[in-house]
Amino acid sequence: MSANNPIRITDVSPRDGLQAESAIIETATKAKLAMLVQQTGVAEVEVSSFVSPKWIPQLGDAAAVFDLLAPTKPEDVIYSALVPNERGLDAAIVVNQKARQDHGIERLIDKVSVFTAASEGFSLKNTNATIEETLARFEPVVAKAHEHGLMVRGYVSCIVQCPFDGVINPESVGDVMTRLLAMEIDEIDLGDTIGAATPETLEPVVMEAIDRLDGESTNSFGDPTLTLHLHDTFGHAVECVQLALELGVRSFDSAAGGLGGCPYASTDGNRVAGNISTPALVQAIRDAGLTTNIDDDALIKASKFAAGLIG
Ligand code: HMG
Ligand code: MG
Repeated sequence: MSANNPIRITDVSPRDGLQAESAIIETATKAKLAMLVQQTGVAEVEVSSFVSPKWIPQLGDAAAVFDLLAPTKPEDVIYSALVPNERGLDAAIVVNQKARQDHGIERLIDKVSVFTAASEGFSLKNTNATIEETLARFEPVVAKAHEHGLMVRGYVSCIVQCPFDGVINPESVGDVMTRLLAMEIDEIDLGDTIGAATPETLEPVVMEAIDRLDGESTNSFGDPTLTLHLHDTFGHAVECVQLALELGVRSFDSAAGGLGGCPYASTDGNRVAGNISTPALVQAIRDAGLTTNIDDDALIKASKFAAGLIG
């Protein structure tokens, strides 16, 4: 990708932002958040997760949220959803079939995201499975998603530090990436799940990731193969974006209103903070002399609405 192309942004607020909220948020309110976010100029909205409602009850209405969004989806925005296993993928496929029938939409959900970690402790806590077991689950998911014309993102969480296993070796991140790339996954998303990264600790991870991509900086859809997903727990996310931009990363996740956090990354008395907020990300990109497609007024509107949801 040319240095002058706009930086790709995925807003994860309807998924990462709402998954940890103790308040019950109405389905229509979630859809409203996604509708506001999709007008901000982001390339992608991570709308929800098809995970076990026993694990994440907050997102148990994923299909209903997509149903409300179907008539509103802009042509140039990608919708994505997390799927931990084949059952989740099947639920996404059913949503797409319904949208085709009801609204004549070829594909409502364009991308599914599988998720694993560079640390065993987090993998077990988040998915009740070892890293190896998650990867085995993903093999049929990636193949079937591709058969249905869906792109696949592969998250690797805890790229710098794990709340259970401590400091993570960049090579462990690279090893998981290599396994995901061998499945022909379309995009790797590196998650600093607990916001522990600093530019110093992030640099070797990003260098390792670039190395594992072996020159493949864009995928067959023309999008960056590498995305960075930063949480802002300790206020270092903006510095990390600056460093990542210098290293050539061209795709980032963020959340309107800075919502977010993985409930399975929190420890007793220490709830993880939100994703980097989209305004902070956009500012960091502009400060680096690069551009985005973000419309500031629409972003302010979405961010205010998002912030209002968590009080
Ligand atoms: P399990 O309990 O080991 O597996 O969960 P199970 O097969 O026994 O399933 C438990 C129940 O869920 C069963 O129901 C299944 O049928 C059902 P029951 O028979 O007891 O009535 N089930 C499902 N229901 C709906 N959709 C599904 C599904 N699969 C099983 N897809 C499992 C294993 C993976 C399902 C569970 O651990 C899970 O859903 N985990 C999701 C956790 C999660 O969503 N975490 C947050 C996202 S990750 C994150 O936030 C990090 C990220 O932001 C990046 C970063 O910051 O680093 C992405
Ligand atoms: Mg996250």
